[in-house]
Amino acid sequence: MTEIKSSITRVETCAAKVREAVRVAQRAGETVGFVPTMGALHEGHLSLVEAALAECDKTVVSIFVNPTQFAPSEDLESYPRMFDRDLELLQQRGCWLVFAPPVEEMYHPGHETSVDVGSVALPWEGASRPAHFGGVATIVLKLFQMVPAERAYFGQKDYQQSVVIKQMVADLNVPIEIRVCPIVRESDGLAMSSRNTYLSPEERKQASGLWQSLKLAEALHTAGESSAAVIKEKMKQLLAPARHIDVEYIALLRVGTVCEVETLVGKTVVAIAARVGQTRLIDNHTIGK
Ligand code: PAJ
Repeated sequence: MTEIKSSITRVETCAAKVREAVRVAQRAGETVGFVPTMGALHEGHLSLVEAALAECDKTVVSIFVNPTQFAPSEDLESYPRMFDRDLELLQQRGCWLVFAPPVEEMYHPGHETSVDVGSVALPWEGASRPAHFGGVATIVLKLFQMVPAERAYFGQKDYQQSVVIKQMVADLNVPIEIRVCPIVRESDGLAMSSRNTYLSPEERKQASGLWQSLKLAEALHTAGESSAAVIKEKMKQLLAPARHIDVEYIALLRVGTVCEVETLVGKTVVAIAARVGQTRLIDNHTIGK
């Protein structure tokens, strides 16, 4: 594997070299934070990098578009790839090392093992994308072996993914602390996502409706509404006139879980998935106290 030298941020494509670099830093008494990504970085990703930089001596970011978490019908081929721009952004922020492996480094020929995290991976995103969380859990565990950091940073944007990762880390005794950071949004409230670039101007305008529906849920709850069914119905009504938006699910989940609640008690995660034109978007918002 070749090592690409850069002036500030080190770039590695080889897992063994990354692990050694992390171990050397740790032997010198430094803590390492790790941010796994699929690249096409935006301020959401960079907020995780900032959190890692603030809490750890050194920050590693991985950039790998993981084929096993995409279904054959999904956007693996067209997923945005912009490594040079990503590297520049990471250099500006002061990232120590970027791990950008080729597919063969992550999946050797004859790779067989996969991680099945069980029931938390089944509903919601798991129902729409049956192989998705198996692919995510497998690649994240592999990355944790290659980048044996003290802490790893994930976004609340992919709420169910964070639940899946925490379950895997607990069940498989992975010695890493999982931090989940807040959702970063565009000025109109749309959650930042690498897939937002797929939206047409008209779809992009309507896409902010997802955030408006989540804010409506919060406003209803603040005004005393505690029925999940009523909140869901009003969110659907709000989105109904947006002709590019096709809601796939709205779920009110007990915080920290993927279990639906009927009556809101304490903190509740309102999660939504919708197609906006051809693009599938997800978002969520935590409401209640
Ligand atoms: P990716 O979609 O690139 O996201 C990388 C990380 O950035 C995830 O933890 C995600 O939740 C977080 N993120 C994305 N948008 C965000 C936003 N608007 N605000 C805050 N955080 C945001 O998630 C993946 O990649 C992959 O599944 C991965 C974990 C890398 C495994 O392949």
